Parts: sequence; structure tokens; C-alpha cells
Amino acid sequence: MASPPLRGVLLAGGTGSRLRPLTDHTNKHLLPVGGEPMILRPLRALRDAGLREILVVTGVEHMGQVVAELGSGADLGVDLTWKVQDRAGGIAQALGLAESFAAGGPVAVVLGDNVFSAPLGPCLAGFRDGARILLSEVPDPSRFGCPVFEGERLVRIEEKPEHPASPYAVTGIYAYDAGVFDVIRQLRPSGRGELEITDVNNHYLQQGALEWSVLPGWWTDAGTPASLARADRLVREAL
Ligand code: DAU
Repeated sequence: MASPPLRGVLLAGGTGSRLRPLTDHTNKHLLPVGGEPMILRPLRALRDAGLREILVVTGVEHMGQVVAELGSGADLGVDLTWKVQDRAGGIAQALGLAESFAAGGPVAVVLGDNVFSAPLGPCLAGFRDGARILLSEVPDPSRFGCPVFEGERLVRIEEKPEHPASPYAVTGIYAYDAGVFDVIRQLRPSGRGELEITDVNNHYLQQGALEWSVLPGWWTDAGTPASLARADRLVREAL
């Protein structure tokens, strides 16, 4: 029997608190980057990688705005399914809402505030089992999941380390097999009260099932005033 196809998951929950007051009246993922809502970029990246069936997870804050912007996805050439994350319980908790959508197959996951230049097709090519993460060199790795290497070997990922062990961020672009939903069920909330995607990735790493590579081109998040400005500048420079 053919295995289920890779499906796309776009995570746009959370509160956007780091972008207040901009997010007081606007959903974070609709703030403009390069003159259009930031969420359109990761969505098109999934579409251009050949993924047509995409689940969007939104938070409750101004969620009607996001639904109104993207609708069924038909205008963008995708078929959107929607789920609401009713409280910002973390990226892994938001991903857990994708279990029935994934229908026993693997998922490509992108965070709705990630903006990058590389096409995702080559990054996802051949993915079937385990997990895959993509790294990007950043000026401020202590804001992100940060990989720790021994020689060439990735030994663990630290979430927002005070003293980063490498100049890389784990980007918000991931691929997981269907086993990820069992992994998420076993997680316990972190100190910040969230189910952490870094704990999911460390689980796969300990099982010897985590692949990694460096994402080509530029990458940034857009979740803080400085990184939102950076994302806007990088997109405009690339136009
Ligand atoms: O951008 C990459 C980084 O994203 C990774 O390096 C980190 O390991 C990962 O924890 C995450 O870090 P942030 O602290 O920057 O994530 P933030 O809380 O800003 O959430 C980023 C996006 O994830 C957000 O725009 C939508 C989605 N999200 C987040 C939370 C907390 C959800 O869908 N639901 C949530 O509950």
C-alpha cells in the first residue's frame, strides 16, 4: 500500500506579545513584511515545494483576520484546513492539533513568522522517517533553539541558551514522521509553560533519527520588533 503523502502544517498560534502594541489590534502573522502579510511567505514556500494540502493552526487573538485573509486557500492554489489553538501552549502543542489532518503520514511544518529565501523542495526531498531540522547562522543564537556540536556531530539542542554553543539557530522549518504525535503526548511543559518543539527534536536526536542540514540563503524570524524590521529589509532587498 502506498504511504500517505507529505502534508504541510503552518503554525500561526501564540500571542504575539513581543510585538505589542502592534499586535493589540492585528494578528501577528498579518503584520507586513515586504508589503504583504508575513504568513503568505511560509505558506507559498510550502505550496512551491509541491504541498497542496495545508493545515493552518491559528490562535484566538484576531483569528478572524487570518481566516479572512487566507480563506479556503483557493486564490493561492492550496487547499487549507483550519484548527484553532485556544491557548498558546507552545509550538509542539500546536503541532499536536495536526494529528488527524496528517492521517498517519509525515508532515512538513513551518512557523508562520519565519521568512527565508531558499525553496523548500530540496530541503524536504526524500523525507519519510524520523525528523529533519534546518539550521541557519544568526547573529543572536541565544534567542532560538541552538545546536550543540561535538566535532561534526550534533549532540543536543538547547532552547534559548544564555551561552550559545554554536552560531546557529534551529529554524522553524521541520519535517516529522507520524510518530511525532506520540512524542508530543509524552512531553511535559517547560519552565515557560509550553510544550517545546526543541524537546521533540531532542527526542528524535536521542533515538538517532534526527537529520540536519544548513538552510541555504538567508533566514529570519519576524517575532520581535528588531527581527520584523530585519525580515522586511531582507525581503525588500531580494525584490
Ligand atoms: O523561529 C525559530 C524558533 O522558534 C526556534 O529556534 C525555537 O527553537 C522555537 O522555540 C521558536 O522560538 P520562539 O520563541 O521565537 O517562538 P515563538 O513563541 O515566537 O513562536 C513562533 C511561532 O510559532 C509563532 O509565530 C506561531 C507558532 N506558535 C507559537 C506558540 C508559542 C504557535 O502556533 N503556537 C504557540 O503556542
